[in-house]
Amino acid sequence: PDPRPKAADLLVWYDRHRRVLPWRALPGETPDPYRVWLSEVMLQQTTIAAVKPYFARFLERFPTLQALALAPEETVMSTWAGLGYYSRARNLHACAKAVAAAGGFPDDAKGLRRLPGIGAYTAGAIAAIAFDRQEAAVDGNVERVVTRLFAIETPLPAARPAIRALTQDLVPADRPGDFAQAVMDLGATICTVKRPACALCPWMAPCQARALGLQETFPRKVKK
Ligand code: ADE
Repeated sequence: PDPRPKAADLLVWYDRHRRVLPWRALPGETPDPYRVWLSEVMLQQTTIAAVKPYFARFLERFPTLQALALAPEETVMSTWAGLGYYSRARNLHACAKAVAAAGGFPDDAKGLRRLPGIGAYTAGAIAAIAFDRQEAAVDGNVERVVTRLFAIETPLPAARPAIRALTQDLVPADRPGDFAQAVMDLGATICTVKRPACALCPWMAPCQARALGLQETFPRKVKK
């Protein structure tokens, strides 16, 4: 295979096939950190389909970060009811209060990481998508894409630091936020767990797993 996947090839694909999602800025629009943050927290353990109506309801009830920060705890909890993992809702509210008091979100991953409910993945995603920082956002979809690209034989979870480093190396200086979302979309729609659509993949040529015919066997996992 070609030696190295190019971000530019993925971005060409993304420009043609990007999914339209309520929290995504359209091309040319400036992303709203409040919407990016709210969506990423909701998507931590919940599917896009389940998140959509909750995302809409939250924006209706709490149109701004300030509105969410000032809302009573029980209103936030009852609006969250049904999404599960209720510590996320408590952290969401605590985070809104802290960020409102500070006058806005920190604009880099390091600052974001210090906020309640924001781990490495969410900090990277918000920094890249909302603030154009050259950061990686590695979730399960991205792990699948990257372990296949590089045919990483080390099983999860031991492979995570290597996956993170390889992903970070792929992030372009130009359009890092689109790149983060493009890798997510690729994992969700092309580089699927079963029967990946390699013929449609912008990274077919540099994919080492595909060259070996072993794409469905990555990521490797420790046998249970
Ligand atoms: N999963 C988590 N964050 C996402 C995003 N911004 N777009 C699509 N899927 C996601």
